Amino acid sequence: MTPARAPEQVHERHGDNLYPETFSQTFGDIEMQLDVPAGVWNPTPHGVHLGNMLLRLDFTGEHVLELGTGCGIHAILLARRGARRLTLTEIEAHVNENARHNLAKNEVDAATEYVVADWTAVPGASHSGDAPWDSVVTNPPFAKSGKRHRRYFIDTLILDAHKLVRPGGRLVFVQSSMADVPRSVALMESGGMRVRVVGETDGPFRDYYFEDPAYLREMAAIPGSYDVRDGVHHERLIVFEATLP
Ligand SMILES: C[S@@+](CC[C@H](N)C(=O)[O-])C[C@H]1O[C@@H](n2cnc3c(N)ncnc32)[C@H](O)[C@@H]1O
Repeated sequence: MTPARAPEQVHERHGDNLYPETFSQTFGDIEMQLDVPAGVWNPTPHGVHLGNMLLRLDFTGEHVLELGTGCGIHAILLARRGARRLTLTEIEAHVNENARHNLAKNEVDAATEYVVADWTAVPGASHSGDAPWDSVVTNPPFAKSGKRHRRYFIDTLILDAHKLVRPGGRLVFVQSSMADVPRSVALMESGGMRVRVVGETDGPFRDYYFEDPAYLREMAAIPGSYDVRDGVHHERLIVFEATLP
C-alpha cells in the first residue's frame, strides 16, 4: 500500500522539489499513485491547487496539451475529466518517461503522446489560426524559472497561446500572486481572451524563496504579491481559465 501524503507533506517546502518520493495523492474522489524519481519535479501546493481546480472543469472529448507535465499528476486528472487525447511535453525525455510510467500505473487509457519540446515550441503549433489543441494546461516554472525575466514562461504561454489552442479553446494555468496577477490578466485581455478565476487558495512561502535574495527583492516590488500573518509569509495561488477569441 502506497503511503498517502499527510497534509503537512503536501505543504512540504523542501529544497528544489527534485527529491524522489512514492505516494498517493487524492483529488476529490480520485486517488492516484505516483512514483517520482530524483530529478523530476515533485508536486508542490501549486500543482495540487491546479489539480483541485481541474476537477471543476470539463475536458470531455478534448485533445489537451499539457506543457511541462512533470510526473504526470495533471495528465491523469485530465484523462479522468474526459480528455480523449493528451499531448504531454517536457524539456527532457527522462521526465516524459516518468509521466508515461505514472499514467500506466494509474490506468489512463486516453491516447497520449509524449513530446520533448522547449515550452511553447511544440511540433504542431500553428501560426495560421488552425491550432490543434482544444485546451492547454500547465503549471509554469516561475520561482525557479532560471530565466533573467522570471515571468518568461508565463508571458510566452499567454503570448503564444493562439499558436497552440484553437479559437474558442482554453488556456488553463496556475500562478502565484508573486508572479503579478494583474499583469497576467492584462496580457490575456489585451490578446482578446475572456478571463475567469477558477479558484484561489493561499499557503506559506516555500523555504527556497528565502534562499534567493533576487527573488525576494523582485517580490517586494510587486504590489499584493504576499502578505505576512503571525510572522509567516503567505502567497496566493490562482488558477485561470482564459477562453481564446
Ligand atoms: C513547476 S514544474 C510543474 C511540473 C508538474 N506539471 C507539476 O505540477 O507537478 C514545471 C515543469 O516544466 C518543465 N520545464 C522546465 N523548462 C521547460 C521548458 N523549457 N519546456 C518544457 N518544460 C519545461 C520542468 O521540467 C517541470 O517539470
